[in-house]
Amino acid sequence: MWPLVAVLLLGTVCGGSAQLTFNSTRIVEKTICNETVILPCIVSNLELRKLKAMYVKWKHKGKEIFTFDGVDNKFNSSDDFKSATIAFSHLTEGNASLQLKASDAVPGNYTCEVTESNREGEIIVELRYHMVSWFHPKENILIVIFPILAILLFWGQFGIVTLKYKSNCTSEKTIGLIIAGLFLTVVVIVGAVLFVPGEYSVKNASGLGLIVIPTVTLVVLQYCLFTTAFGMTLFAIGILILQFLGYILAVIGLSLCITECSPTQGPLMISGLGIIALAELLGLVYMKFVASNQKTIPPSRSN
Ligand SMILES: *[C@@H]1O[C@H](CO)[C@@H](O)[C@H](O)[C@H]1NC(C)=O
Ligand SMILES: *[C@@H]1O[C@H](CO)[C@@H](O)[C@H](O)[C@H]1NC(C)=O
Repeated sequence: MWPLVAVLLLGTVCGGSAQLTFNSTRIVEKTICNETVILPCIVSNLELRKLKAMYVKWKHKGKEIFTFDGVDNKFNSSDDFKSATIAFSHLTEGNASLQLKASDAVPGNYTCEVTESNREGEIIVELRYHMVSWFHPKENILIVIFPILAILLFWGQFGIVTLKYKSNCTSEKTIGLIIAGLFLTVVVIVGAVLFVPGEYSVKNASGLGLIVIPTVTLVVLQYCLFTTAFGMTLFAIGILILQFLGYILAVIGLSLCITECSPTQGPLMISGLGIIALAELLGLVYMKFVASNQKTIPPSRSN
């Protein structure tokens, strides 16, 4: 009886100490922005620290996807996980983290099994998919609101000019302004629909381009409205310059954001769009002000 107990006891004790333990996180997240994914697997109590004594096996849904055999110094990755690899130079420090292309890294549970001589251990790492919006929700709102506001203000200016300065508005001018204004309105609305909050994609990026790039039309339209109404004044020129600078900022911001999965220059682009809308507002207020100070409608200069 006694020898048996002793053997059992010894077995438990040795079995316990023969386990490799891990100190890496068990849940990792990937987003649309990860090009490579690392599934952490870090052994904290390696003793021999020799590649020859090590064997690593990674499994996904019970199927082997990657193995490394230290004796032959050979590794093998399965067909679905061709990109899988580990940093062999870090293996003797206990780092058996699996590195793979994001496209191979399907979410789910992965098992990392490490053997060092007669000791072994395993850890399950869960890979989760995490949706991230391209821009922050607040930025999304401003990116859509500012251009739409600016367009509404343009239509307000158009209303003032066609009502107060009827005699200056030839029908060609009016039709031209309507066509350009409608075109801009439609393009920006299409852009806003494509841009709807979501992950970074070609669709989102084209939407953003359609929102930002055509806003230069507002500068031209505002110029046309000023000249139709009362000609260029210093104040009108100032407003147009401000609006054009806003456009430059917005386009610089756009070019810095459009290829970035996690853009950092959103605020620059948004300030540009804000300035464009502000200049449109100033233009409207100014036109209203001038229009209400003019008792008689000045005769048309152009014809
Ligand atoms: C994905 O990328 C982020 C940011 O670069 C990183 O913190 C994260 O660990 C990556 N996810 C995985 C699973 O590698
Ligand atoms: C483990 O190796 C991976 C690369 O395979 C590396 O990204 C990670 O930082 C390493 N971790 C530690 C703790 O050294």
